[in-house]
Amino acid sequence: MKIDKIEKRVIITAMCMMGLFVFSLLYAKTKYKSNVPECLPYDKAYTNPKINQIDDKTYQVFSVASMWKFEPAEIYIPVGSEVDFYLTSKDVVHGFNIAEKDVNMMAVSGAINKTTVKFEKPGVYNIVCHEYCGVGHQNMHAQVIVNYPKAK
Ligand code: CUA
Repeated sequence: MKIDKIEKRVIITAMCMMGLFVFSLLYAKTKYKSNVPECLPYDKAYTNPKINQIDDKTYQVFSVASMWKFEPAEIYIPVGSEVDFYLTSKDVVHGFNIAEKDVNMMAVSGAINKTTVKFEKPGVYNIVCHEYCGVGHQNMHAQVIVNYPKAK
C-alpha cells in the first residue's frame, strides 16, 4: 500500500507528539512525584461510604458522591496522616477537588478512582464538587479535618 508523502509526515509527527506527551507525563510523575489518580476495577464494596483506619497515620476513605453530597461529609484525621481516597458516584458525574492538595478527580458511577494524599499540616481542607451536577451543585462539599477534635 502506498501512502502519500504528506500523509506519512503527518503520521510521523503525530506519533512523535504522542511519544513526547507520554514521556512528559512519566517525567512529571517521577521528577515531581505527582500522584496520578488510578482507576480500579469496579467493586460494590467501595459504594458503602466509610473511613477505615489502617494504622496510626494511614487511612482509607470510601467517598461516595451523590446529588448533592459527599459521604462521609467530615473526615477527622491526625496530622501527618496518609489517606487513600476511593471515589465513586451513586448517580451523575461529580467532581472531587481538594485545592490545597492538588487533588482533581471525577466521581463516576460504576467506576472507582483512587488517589493518595498526605496531610502534613493541621487545618480544614475543603472537598468541593467542581463538575456541574444539577441545581444543588454549589452546596456539594465535604471536609477533611486534620488534628481537630471531633465535634459532639
Ligand atoms: Cu456534584 Cu457538582
